[in-house]
Amino acid sequence: MDIFEIDGPVQLSGEIHVAGSKNACLPILAAALLAPGKSLIPNAPDLADIRSMETLIESLGAAVCRDDAGLHIDATTIDNPVGEYDIVRKMRASICILGPLLARCGRVKISMPGGCAIGDRPIDIHLRGVRALGAQIHLENGYVIAEAPAGGLVGTQIFLGGPFGSTVLGTGNVMMAATLAKGTTVIESAACEPEVADLAHCLNAMGAKISGIGSPRLVIEGVKDLSPVTYPVIGDRIEAGTFMVAAAITRSRLEINNCEIDHMLAVTDRFRQIGVEVEKYENGCEVAMETFIHPADITTQPYPGFPTDLQAQFMALLALGEGNSVITEKIYPDRFMHVAELNRMAANLRKEGPSVIVAGTDKLIAAPVMASDLRASAALVLAGMAAEGTTTVQRVYHIDRGYDKIEQKLNAVGAKIKRISV
Ligand code: EPZ
Repeated sequence: MDIFEIDGPVQLSGEIHVAGSKNACLPILAAALLAPGKSLIPNAPDLADIRSMETLIESLGAAVCRDDAGLHIDATTIDNPVGEYDIVRKMRASICILGPLLARCGRVKISMPGGCAIGDRPIDIHLRGVRALGAQIHLENGYVIAEAPAGGLVGTQIFLGGPFGSTVLGTGNVMMAATLAKGTTVIESAACEPEVADLAHCLNAMGAKISGIGSPRLVIEGVKDLSPVTYPVIGDRIEAGTFMVAAAITRSRLEINNCEIDHMLAVTDRFRQIGVEVEKYENGCEVAMETFIHPADITTQPYPGFPTDLQAQFMALLALGEGNSVITEKIYPDRFMHVAELNRMAANLRKEGPSVIVAGTDKLIAAPVMASDLRASAALVLAGMAAEGTTTVQRVYHIDRGYDKIEQKLNAVGAKIKRISV
């Protein structure tokens, strides 16, 4: 197991290249299962979660390999449409094979994802969607078994909204299933995240007929079959946002490239409120923080609102703000595992129901802290770069799920992070 030793405070400078989006790549890997043949994702990020998805895809009977050209998926053969508990429990996004396998094989058995550190990960809306397309669903020993009618899935109008708004992977699952259904499917209250739009563009490149991309109303005209594809995914806006916070929290200037800033308007709006300069350029931006950190209120919402995946990172930044901020989590109400750990670093954070009151302080103090989930762990790394002294972060495997060698990218611009195997 690895730990990070992080010396602070540091100043950063230079340029960081953002990888391909994990949250676009995972459902696009699942989409490749819809078409017999060889697909390629040239810029698939090299992350633990992507490797988990590769393991899952191979367990279905398909083949996966990575070389200099990128990540190859050969979905010619799928002879075991089963998502085993042992794989799914490690990565809840495995659920995104439900739609493609139901459409391609007519039957799929997949373990219920269960909960994780950020809260329950229900799939009731996913099941509502595929049931509407005609699938029979039953639960058996913690597994969902879904079977399409003998004549195949049938297009229909589906409302996919839930108590927390839209569902990203739920929209992906139903959209993927609908591409091979008979007739037209209309998804109302579809998720509008850029990663969902990227999946839709990839499916259209495979021969699907999807319109309304990026809007809450998707129209999918079923087609007879789809073809394999070579498809580069969009840049990872959450990784980009994490590195933008790294510049702000260390009062540095960084260039962040390979990300679409127009996908981050809610984020740049909060940065500007805080006093961070964000200068957009072709396929990236320059971030600079010269003044003190102004307080700001943040509420996480479905896209185009402020992304829940940057909530923890902004909390680390606002912990050093000049004044009080309020951060409200409307997507995963329990997504506050980082609060206690940041308080160990002399932050002054108080949980009040779905919100955290952030009383800004003038410094953070290094401490041994524990990573708990992907984005909470990233917040601890950011805090460690600003804190006085040497912070140790345990359970670094959480970070490796969503960031490709984060310490190498940050050290290249001036951070002092040592990865130690213990
Ligand atoms: C995706 O998860 C992302 N993961 C998450 O990123 C991200 O936090 C989340 O979307 C929200 O933006 C991937 O794309 C792989 P949801 P997903 O279904 O699709 C509730 C990261 O850090 N809900 O949009 O699983 C759910 O409980 C990860 O990279 C239901 O109630 O999230 C949550 O409160 C973490 N019923 C809300 O909707 C359902 O059937 C949004 O969840 C499905 C979801």
